Amino acid sequence: MARQRKARTIYVATTGVAEYRATIPVYVRPDDVVLEVGCEWGTTTELIAEVGADVIGTDISPECIERARESRPNIRFEAIDAFDMPALLALNKKFTKIYLDLSGFSGYASLLDLISLLQMYAHVLEPEVIVAKSRSLKTFAHRCIAWEQPPKEEN
Ligand SMILES: C[S@@+](CC[C@H](N)C(=O)[O-])C[C@H]1O[C@@H](n2cnc3c(N)ncnc32)[C@H](O)[C@@H]1O
Repeated sequence: MARQRKARTIYVATTGVAEYRATIPVYVRPDDVVLEVGCEWGTTTELIAEVGADVIGTDISPECIERARESRPNIRFEAIDAFDMPALLALNKKFTKIYLDLSGFSGYASLLDLISLLQMYAHVLEPEVIVAKSRSLKTFAHRCIAWEQPPKEEN
């Protein structure tokens, strides 16, 4: 029987763009291959590129991508929907880190969709870390405990 592989991805939940960007020096190394999903005009994508990482910025909006390409011609940008996994796989990169910042995905109403997306990225793209900008994910993470059975005391 085929064994199911376990995703080892760590999820980092941030609130606001300052926190989202503050993770870059902590998580991104020059040898990383990074995908930023929801890159808008590429401001954060450029900060990731400045570390020396190989980075691609993607956004659903072709207008944003056009502007990002014009202002940052040395960085690769592609118009792709975050949920279009075949298009992300067609980028043909082994992403080690993923940055995710989608408008409309910060509130509780979209938490399930966001978690589904994170799980899909973890299982298909297998990055080491996904940094997400989402207030509701951070609040949820703060309220979770991964229960571990304490060792039994010997008499
Ligand atoms: C807050 S902006 C991103 C800002 C950018 N990450 C930065 O740090 O400068 C959110 C972006 O998410 C994009 N977006 C929303 N839904 C998306 C989807 N389904 N797939 C890809 N991008 C999406 C929007 O077009 C918008 O540019």
